[in-house]
Amino acid sequence: MSTWRFSRYFLGSAPSVREARRFITSLLRDWPAADAAELIVSELATNAIRHTDSGRFGGRFLVSVQAHPDRLWLGVLDEGGQSSPLVFRHAPDGEGGRGLLLVSSLAIDWGVWGDERGRTVWATLSTGSQPTSCR
Ligand SMILES: Nc1ncnc2c1ncn2[C@@H]1O[C@H](COP(=O)(O)OP(=O)(O)OP(=O)(O)O)[C@@H](O)[C@H]1O
Ligand SMILES: [Mg+2]
Repeated sequence: MSTWRFSRYFLGSAPSVREARRFITSLLRDWPAADAAELIVSELATNAIRHTDSGRFGGRFLVSVQAHPDRLWLGVLDEGGQSSPLVFRHAPDGEGGRGLLLVSSLAIDWGVWGDERGRTVWATLSTGSQPTSCR
């Protein structure tokens, strides 16, 4: 079975969320985990734009996908800032606070590396198996 990795930078502005989703769906077209991967990257890219210096003028973020025989690793590297990723275990009634809760419920594992100079928020998904075309 093959193992592969792709990464791509995106500008830190709202239209990049859709581009990042397309990046994921084009890479994972036949994968059972494609929908979950798309949702996760959408939430993480949105967070990078909204909560980190990636969202400043000229900012960017990096989306990476690593495929292993039985799992996918997804990561979004941002440009850091003062805020830290935090899961609201009980989502507030008002708007917001649901993105990382959703990520944590879809992923078999997730976490954060880095500091205020830049953070990678990552998640892994179980794939069951790779599509025939990737073996
Ligand atoms: N990459 C990040 N860097 C720094 N802080 C982050 C990052 N991602 C999330 N956060 C912090 O963690 C909090 C929770 O993120 P989460 O995605 O769950 O909710 P939200 O973005 O506030 O709202 P929603 O995703 O529901 O629109 C955010 O409000 C923000 O303070
Ligand atoms: Mg969010």
